[in-house]
Amino acid sequence: MDKLRITGGRPLEGEIRVSGAKNAALPIMCAALLTEHALALENVPRLMDVATMAKLLARMGVELGPQRDGRIELRAARVSDPQAPYELVKTMRASVLVLGPLLARCGRARVSLPGGCAIGQRPVDQHIKGLQAMGANIAVEHGYMDARTERLRGARVVMDLVTVTGTENLMMAATLAEGSTLLENAAREPEVVDLARCLSAMGAKIQGAGSDVIRIEGVASLGGARHAVMPDRIETGTYLAAVAAAGGKVRLAGAAPETLEATLEKLREAGARLALEGDAIGIEMAARPRAVSLRTAPYPGFATDMQAQLMALNAIARGTALITETIFENRFMHALELQRLGAEISIQGNTAVVSGVERLQGASVMATDLRASAGLVIAGLVAEGQTVIERIYHLDRGYEALEGKLAALGARVERLR
Ligand code: EPU
Repeated sequence: MDKLRITGGRPLEGEIRVSGAKNAALPIMCAALLTEHALALENVPRLMDVATMAKLLARMGVELGPQRDGRIELRAARVSDPQAPYELVKTMRASVLVLGPLLARCGRARVSLPGGCAIGQRPVDQHIKGLQAMGANIAVEHGYMDARTERLRGARVVMDLVTVTGTENLMMAATLAEGSTLLENAAREPEVVDLARCLSAMGAKIQGAGSDVIRIEGVASLGGARHAVMPDRIETGTYLAAVAAAGGKVRLAGAAPETLEATLEKLREAGARLALEGDAIGIEMAARPRAVSLRTAPYPGFATDMQAQLMALNAIARGTALITETIFENRFMHALELQRLGAEISIQGNTAVVSGVERLQGASVMATDLRASAGLVIAGLVAEGQTVIERIYHLDRGYEALEGKLAALGARVERLR
C-alpha cells in the first residue's frame, strides 16, 4: 500500500489551481441516470471516487467517454441494470446517490445499504423516508434497499436532520415525479446548489436550492446538458490551512471564495492575511498561528470536512482551542495520530481540547479517512524531520494530484510504493 513521506519544516510558496469539487461531481454524475441524452461535464477532478462512480454507472449501462482535461461525457441511453452492489457501495458511500435517479427513471432500484464508516454510523433513513413519501415501496432485506414504484409523486418532505446526500437524492428523484415536491430542512451546501444548476440545465424546475426549502416541479423528461463542476471548497480550505500552519505565501487560482466564508473567518482569526481577487485566494502567514476554537455545523457553518485540518493547525498554535464535532460521532481519529507527532489533545465527548505546542516531530502515522489524512499531511508539513503517512489511498479518493500540488509549493513530499 502506498505511503507518503513528508519532510516538514518548510514554508509553502507559489501558486496552484483548485480542482473541481468531489462532492459536487459525484451527485452530478448520478444525474446522468435521469436522462437518455448526453451529459457533458467539465472540471471533473481525477480521483479514485470519481473512477469508482464511473465504474458503478458503467455497470448499469451508462456509456462514459474517457476523462480528459477534466471533461467526461455520460450517456444513459438505456439503464440495463439498476443496481448498486455492496462491493462498490462499501468503498464509496456516495454510491447511494444512484437510488433517487434510478427510481425516478426506471421505477425500480436495488442499492446496497452502505453500512458503518470510519467517521460514524451514517444511516440513510432520511433518503428512504423521503422516497417513501413520494410513493416508493422500499423493502430493506439482506443488506439491500429494494425500491419500486410506478411514477413517483411529488410530496412534502420534512427532513429530521440536515443531510447533504439525502437532499441530493430526493431532489434528483423529484425532478421526474408527478407534481411538485417540497423539501424542508434541506441541506444548503454549495454542492446541492451546483447539482440544482446542472439539473436545471437539463430542464428540471427547481427553486430555492441553497436555502432550507427547495421546491421541485416534476417534468415528464429531462434533456442533455453541459455543466462545469464547481471548485472544491474543501480542497481549497485544506491548502489554505496548510499555509496557515506551515507559514508562507500562496495563491490558489480557480477557487470559489464565496463558498468558504466560515473557513476564511477562522484562518483570519488564526492570523493569516487573506486577499480575495475574483476566483483567486491569496494567503500569507508569517508567524505561528493563534489557537482558534470551532464547532462544526451544516453549511454555512464550519464544515466537518475541514475539522481535521484545523485541528492540525491548532496543534502548533499559540493557546488552547476547543473543537466540537456535531455532525459525525466518531470524527476524531486523527487526534490520536496527531498525538504520535507530539500534539497535546484530549477528547471530552464530542469536544477536543487542543493545547498548542511549539513544534511537532515527524513519526509514522496512519490515515483513517479522507479528511483525517489531510490533517496528517498538514501536521507532517510543520513537523520536524520525516513523517510517513500510511494508507494514503484515502487521500487519493479525494485530493487530485496532492503530491504534485504540494511539490509546486516547495514541500518535500514523496510517494513510497
Ligand atoms: N444522517 C442520518 N440519516 C440519514 C442521512 C444522514 O442520520 O438518512 C446523519 C449522518 O449520520 C450524519 C448527519 O446526518 O450524522 C449528516 O450527514 P450527511 O447525510 O449530510 O452526510 P453525507 O451526505 O453522507 C456529505 C459529504 C461528506 C460530508 C457530509 C457532511 C458527499 C459525497 N459526502 O456526506 O463528505 O462530511 O456531507 O457535510 O457529499 C468527505 O468528503 O470526506 C465527506 C465525508
